[in-house]
Amino acid sequence: MINMIVLKTTRELSLMREACRISAGALRVAGAAIEPGITTAEIDKIAYDYIISQGAKPNFLNYEGYPATACISINDEVIHGIPSKKRVIKAGDIVSIDLGAAINGYNGDNAATFACGDISEEAQRLIDATRESLYAGIKAAKNGNRVGDISSAVQQYVEARGYSVVREFVGHGVGASLHEAPEIPNYGTAGRGVRLVPGMTIAIEPMINLGQPQINIMPDGWTVKTADGKLSAHFEHTIAITADGPVIMTEC
Ligand code: MF3
Ligand code: CO
Repeated sequence: MINMIVLKTTRELSLMREACRISAGALRVAGAAIEPGITTAEIDKIAYDYIISQGAKPNFLNYEGYPATACISINDEVIHGIPSKKRVIKAGDIVSIDLGAAINGYNGDNAATFACGDISEEAQRLIDATRESLYAGIKAAKNGNRVGDISSAVQQYVEARGYSVVREFVGHGVGASLHEAPEIPNYGTAGRGVRLVPGMTIAIEPMINLGQPQINIMPDGWTVKTADGKLSAHFEHTIAITADGPVIMTEC
């Protein structure tokens, strides 16, 4: 029943909130550890240790064979970069960290792009626009709206600024499983798609390229890079649709 949208009760939302709180905490400590000379494996270990210390489980680890706690994607890497002892972060890099935690039978999922040291103005503007596009999407995630309202809000925000939306990967429902229905594309038409109702929990996650939208998957089977070699950024929150509007579950 992978296509079924699972609505959560208020009580289930409060159980899921714990997974989201721990996911947000792990993203915060992982992001704060970024400095020139640190490896992506070291960042991954910091995230792993934090999640375990909270009594939760890293939910990406072993997901479809994924070998780490976090996806750490640098510069022209869009998503799904595999942490490595050989990958050293340097000043001027932009570093996208995506991770989640599971506890109480529920999942949290979040991502953010961080700067290492001084970065170019061009890179900073891309990061800011990607973060803001996530918030534009969240604002559209109102009870009674449709998935297309979220998709269109994200797309319009970024394309108005000359950036492009990755098409091959999308946001998703999240709950007892890391990936549930419905898909939440970062492009689309307002007023179309599944209606948003209270109890839906979704991960909105724009992946935004400085240049063209095309991507390639690397021979490791995971790492996604921009085809044109230009920068990409990624932000994600798990949110709940409620009668009182969208609630960001993965906020520290
Ligand atoms: N980053 C993906 C998401 O946000 C999930 C990662 S899949 C994994 O939905 F296998 F890399 F863990
Ligand atoms: Co996600």
